[in-house]
Amino acid sequence: MSQPRVRTIVVLAAGEGKRMKSALPKVLHPLLGRTLLGHVLAAAAPLAADRTLVVVGHGADQVSGHLTEVAPDASPVLQAEQRGTGHAVRIALDAVPDQAGTVIVINGDAPLLRPETVKALVEAHESAGAAATVLAAEVGDPTGLGRIVRDEAGRLEQIVEERDASPAQRAIREINAGIYAFDAARLRDTLGKLSTDNDQGEEYLTDVFGLLVATGEPVGVHVAADATETLGCNDRVELASLRTLLRDRVNTAWMRAGVTLLDPATTWIDVTVTLDRDAVVDQNTQLRGVTTVGAEAVVGPDVTLIDTAVGAGATVLRSHAVSAEIGPRASVGPYAYLRPAARLAEQAKVGTFVEVKNSDVGAGAKVPHLSYVGDASIGARANIGAATVVVNYDGVAKHRTTVGEAAFVGCDTTLIAPVEVGAGAYVAAGSAIDKDVPPGALGVARGRQRNIEGWVARRRAGTRSAEAAERAQAGAPRAQDGSAEDTRLGGGSASQGEAIHATTDAGGAGPAKGDTATE
Ligand code: UD1
Ligand code: CA
Repeated sequence: MSQPRVRTIVVLAAGEGKRMKSALPKVLHPLLGRTLLGHVLAAAAPLAADRTLVVVGHGADQVSGHLTEVAPDASPVLQAEQRGTGHAVRIALDAVPDQAGTVIVINGDAPLLRPETVKALVEAHESAGAAATVLAAEVGDPTGLGRIVRDEAGRLEQIVEERDASPAQRAIREINAGIYAFDAARLRDTLGKLSTDNDQGEEYLTDVFGLLVATGEPVGVHVAADATETLGCNDRVELASLRTLLRDRVNTAWMRAGVTLLDPATTWIDVTVTLDRDAVVDQNTQLRGVTTVGAEAVVGPDVTLIDTAVGAGATVLRSHAVSAEIGPRASVGPYAYLRPAARLAEQAKVGTFVEVKNSDVGAGAKVPHLSYVGDASIGARANIGAATVVVNYDGVAKHRTTVGEAAFVGCDTTLIAPVEVGAGAYVAAGSAIDKDVPPGALGVARGRQRNIEGWVARRRAGTRSAEAAERAQAGAPRAQDGSAEDTRLGGGSASQGEAIHATTDAGGAGPAKGDTATE
């Protein structure tokens, strides 16, 4: 009969992390897309253990709340007083009295641990039939860590904490990574024998090894192939260097998978992000959360995308997006701000100093400059002129705005919601639109212009404006006199030959810059 393979994972996360000097429990500090604890749980997840117990203490409510979000199958176990790592594991095992088989214990502050390494540790442990196996690593600077003490034959004798170590033991550079596999029954027995006779007066989990050796039980050491995986996090300087190491690991993997990173040193990609082949990420770019980047999209420089989907072939330049969708071959920026539920369809354009929130921008539609689009639907191939503002909020409630397919909204328009501009309709520049514009109609809602001849000479005599006006009037031919302005920009009604100057956009669906649209 084969051995039962019931496995339990115990993650130790009750410590305060004093040296972090933080109100946030140490294991909840974020690191490229997950908390420290989240990384540890992700490294253990492929083992598909029957149970995952997380020992919580400092900030127990916060840590338990985080678990509900990221690992609902894991159970918190409270260690009210932090009396050492051995004490923590003892409390965890008390919560699962029927536990047999393998117990894996992982310090909650080892975020660079790889799943393969945990698996290899467990396999080495189970195939050797050991009572306990520790993950070890050879490091350049072992300061602060527990040392692996071996006998002449190279067998593990004990693990000694630095503060309890002799000078000879301190010279050892093989360290305890804080990740272990145990046989449950023998672990339980031995935990009952731990003393607190050490420099910290705590129950050390590491003492289990010496005690097992003393009773002739087989123990093992599994040496990690990559020592950086075993690095813990005790203060914010270490956190920053872990972040750099993880960034390099993530970036290297994406480059090997066919993504171009123009400046990996300034590119920060969360472990939860995915990129397709031939995507290009330019410098100073952060891709966070569940962001996805499609094939041949170009993102950056100077872009932050959080939980945002970028379609194939899209470009995003010097912009910030949160929970947005950027369609295939769409174009964003420079200096755009996409807020939650901004959805840009294929080939849509959201340009310079444009903010979009909870709105659909249809296929090929353009919002090129200086606009706010909130709670709106912009139809396919519509053109929204510069400085158009959707007035979505009346101080109490938000209202929807709809702009139909291939509609043409002139510059400096306010669309006062709820309102609808029909398909193919035009809106005159400078309008404040609060009534629907039917399909194909021109909506005009602005004051008429009147010019008061000679006003500057009379009311601003002696100013440089008055002097310039005088020069212009003296030297200029009659046709360039002020009255010409009246016919170009004046406010006659549309039926009298209204000059619209609807847009500044030279491309796209509407008239080019400087064109007039007359009915
Ligand atoms: C521990 C090991 C040390 C090893 C190092 C690797 C012991 C005695 N020492 O030292 O050999 O080299 O990890 O990083 O185990 N915790 C609890 N409850 C407690 C105490 C700690 O849950 O009562 C948790 C902490 O939150 C932390 C983990 O256990 O996640 C390790 O505790 P920490 O105090 O950081 O141990 P180290 O001194 O680093
Ligand atoms: Ca530690």
